[in-house]
This record gives sequence, structure tokens and C-alpha cells, in this order.
Amino acid sequence: MSEIAEVKINGQTYELPIITGSEDEKGIDITKLRSLSGAVTLDSGYKNTGSTKSAVTYLDGENGILRYRGYSIEELAEKASFIEVAYLLINGELPTKSQLSEFEANITKHTLIHEDMKRFYEAYPSKAHPMGIVASLLCSLSTFYPDSQNPNRTEEEIELTIYRLLAKLPTISAWAYKNFVGHPVVYPKNNLNYEENFLNMMFSLPAEKYKIDPVVADALNKLLILHADHEQNCSASTVRIVGSSHANLYSSISAGVIALWGPLHGGANQAVIEMLETIYEDGTPLENWIAKAKDKNDPFRLMGFGHRVYKNFDPRAKIIKKAADDVLEKLGIQDPLIEIAKELEQVALNDEYFKARNLYPNVDFYSGIIYKALGIPTEMFTVMFALGRLPGWIAQWKEMIENKEPIGRPRQIYVGANERSYVPLDER
Ligand code: SDX
Repeated sequence: MSEIAEVKINGQTYELPIITGSEDEKGIDITKLRSLSGAVTLDSGYKNTGSTKSAVTYLDGENGILRYRGYSIEELAEKASFIEVAYLLINGELPTKSQLSEFEANITKHTLIHEDMKRFYEAYPSKAHPMGIVASLLCSLSTFYPDSQNPNRTEEEIELTIYRLLAKLPTISAWAYKNFVGHPVVYPKNNLNYEENFLNMMFSLPAEKYKIDPVVADALNKLLILHADHEQNCSASTVRIVGSSHANLYSSISAGVIALWGPLHGGANQAVIEMLETIYEDGTPLENWIAKAKDKNDPFRLMGFGHRVYKNFDPRAKIIKKAADDVLEKLGIQDPLIEIAKELEQVALNDEYFKARNLYPNVDFYSGIIYKALGIPTEMFTVMFALGRLPGWIAQWKEMIENKEPIGRPRQIYVGANERSYVPLDER
């Protein structure tokens, strides 16, 4: 006998089924609430509302647990490659050796972007923010592959689009960086793996071949894995709702990139470094900044702190913090910002305001330290987040399409003017 929830409205009691997830999460299924009672629910920011049933990622905010298809983020970050994790998220299982090499081969052969797309870069201002270029070019890919616009795509056509996205996003991103620094673009090399190819396209110069440092490639692999998915976050929900109208996959992913850009979401990694640099240059005690972060009249927020779901340490932040120490040590880099970040973390974690609100460092708090150490400029940090998140967005979109979910169209509670008649202009 399934559990039920009872809702009493105007003296009438309505029974609603309770569904239980595979980790014993409970959800009140309100599918029939409006038809039964005429009432809808209201939940600004969807803080208490589940939008779907998903098998992709599980996270437990209270206990700081994050798993992709049941595998812990700690194990995957330590033992897997990013492409392996991409396969896992999109297909639901870890690949066999032959499945992985076929997956990699299919991605490798699509890394080029059409030469006509190079003209797009020439049209952007030299310091165009790479996120603006990446979002536009991802959507534009749908015009180069018009078959992808067909809402009745075959499985093979969807698979080809997925390969093209995974293959071309590194090229589009690296070329957006080259546009930002005013350097000539570097073409993909099929003899390099995913991370090496991206690093080579980012940092090779006509006069100087880029020497791939395994420490850098390994750190990038780990960072991409840690960003690969995070259930129904703002950008994944955007990908789902845009995809639910049967807009093509390129456009749905482009919408996800745009949602990620916001400083409250993926844009926080750029905002964290800019905050740390401001604090470093300012030189006033950290307590002053903590006071600003607590002051409701001050727009300053401790970027990289707090999370909608994690009311404990973000497990990714723990791994990235350790990786940051390792990378800086291995590369022999002294970065004063990491010391400021660690001190800021300690001051915040011992402050009543932060403790009372369960505000801990999130994935964005330390990631910028590593990107900076890898030679990646601040304006590219959120592009790095998008590179990592791409397989997660694809997995979420694919699950939504395969489950034939309806177009997303929330209701509302109207609080505007009641009916009134038009007043002629000269009588107002
Ligand atoms: C990501 O959802 C995901 O999974 C996202 C993500 C992913 O992988 O996809 O994990 C990636 O987006 C991480 C978050 C990156 N954003 C930031 O670091 C920006 C700084 N953080 C905040 O803006 C905030 O914590 C959010 C946006 C992350 C969460 O906001 P919520 O859940 O809407 O919580 P809230 O804003 O209502 O905050 C609750 C309280 C408020 O105070 P009171 O009204 O209770 O007095 O905490 C305060 C907030 O003012 N607060 C902060 C704070 N974050 C929350 N105060 C100071 N500094 C902060 N950073």
C-alpha cells in the first residue's frame, strides 16, 4: 500500500500519493492536485519542489554525498577519466574497454568546427567574454547541422549530435580564448586525448609548441569530472525546460550555458577570484569582509560560499581544495590568494551567521585557484565549468526526452489588478 499525504483545503481533505526514491527520498506527487482541488502549489525558486524523477545523479545535501549513476564522486575523481564519466552519465553504465575506445574515437573525429564558423570569431570584439561566444556558437551549430532541428530525431541522429557537442565544445571554447587574447586559433589534434587536446588548443603558439604537463592534464581531468553533473541545478533545469519544447539539443545546451553564466551559479568561480584579488589588494582584515557579507544593506556576498542543497561541506570543494594544494606544490607556484581563501574559510566557518545558515565553501570556492595555476584566465573559468557540465546537461536532456516528459509550463498565483475598463487617453 503506497503512502499518502492528506491536504485539507476549505474543509475538504484530498489524498495525494507519496513516492519514495531509491535512496528513500519522499515526494508528494501533486500531479492531480489542481484537478482535484483547484489549488496549485507555490514555491519561489523551487526550493521544495521536485521537477522530475531522475536516475542520473544523487546528492544528499545534509550529508555531503554526491554520486553519478551510483558511483561516488570521490572514487570517480580518483580513478576515472572525464570521457569515461561522460559515457557513464549519458549511457547509465561505466563503459567496457571497447565501448570507451569507440566513444573516444567518435568524439575525436568530430573535433573540427566548420571553417565558416571562424568568421563568427572575427565579428566579436577582441575582449568579448568567452561565455558569450560559446553560448552563441553552440546554438549556431544547429544551423550547420539542420537535421538536428528535427524533433523526431532517430536515436542515431541524437547520438551523432551528442558526439558533435562533446567534440566541438573544447574547440569552440579554446578558440574563444584565442579571440580573447588575440592569438591565432590552434586546430584540434587527433593524437591527443580530450584534456591534452584542449590544453594544446588553448596554449600552443605558432612560435612555441605547448608542452603538455601531466600534472596540469590530470588536474583538468579531475576538475572536469567534479563539474560533470549536479542533478536539477539552475542550468540543468534550463536545459530540460528548453528541451521540453522539443527545441534542438544544441539550443538546449546553449541555454544551459547562458544560465550557468550567472554569478549566483557557475559564474561564481570567476566572482570568487575577483573577490579574493579585491581582498588581497585592499589589505584590510578579513573580518571586515565577513561583516560586509553579513550586512543586508551591503550587496557584497562571500562568493563561493553557500549552496541551495548542501547544508554541509560540498564534497567537490573538499577534493578541489586538496587538488589546489597539490597542483600549486607540483607546479612550484606560490599564490597568496589560496592563503586568503583558506583564512576566509576558517573565519566564516567560525562565524555564527554562517554557521546558523549552514554556509560552507561550494565547488566554486577553490576551483579558480587551480584554473589560475593552470594558466587559464579568469574570464575562461565559467567556460571550464561548462566544459565539465556538458555531459551532465546531455544526460539530463536525454532522460527527459526518453521519458517523454511534457513541455515544462509552471502555473502561478495571479496578484495583479482585477478586471477594469479601458480609460480613454484624454480622461487619464
Ligand atoms: C553553483 O544548484 C547547484 O547544484 C549549483 C552548483 C552546480 O554544481 O550546478 O552547485 C554550482 O552554482 C554553486 C553556487 C555558486 N554560487 C555562489 O557561490 C554565490 C554565493 N552564494 C549565494 O548566492 C547562495 O548561497 C546561493 C545562490 C548559492 C544559494 O542561495 P539560496 O539557496 O537561494 O539561499 P539564500 O540566498 O536564500 O541564502 C540563505 C541565507 C540568506 O540570509 P537570510 O535571508 O537567511 O538572513 O544565507 C545568506 C542569504 O543572505 N547567504 C549568504 C551567502 N549565501 C547565502 N550570505 C553571505 N554570503 C553568501 N555567499
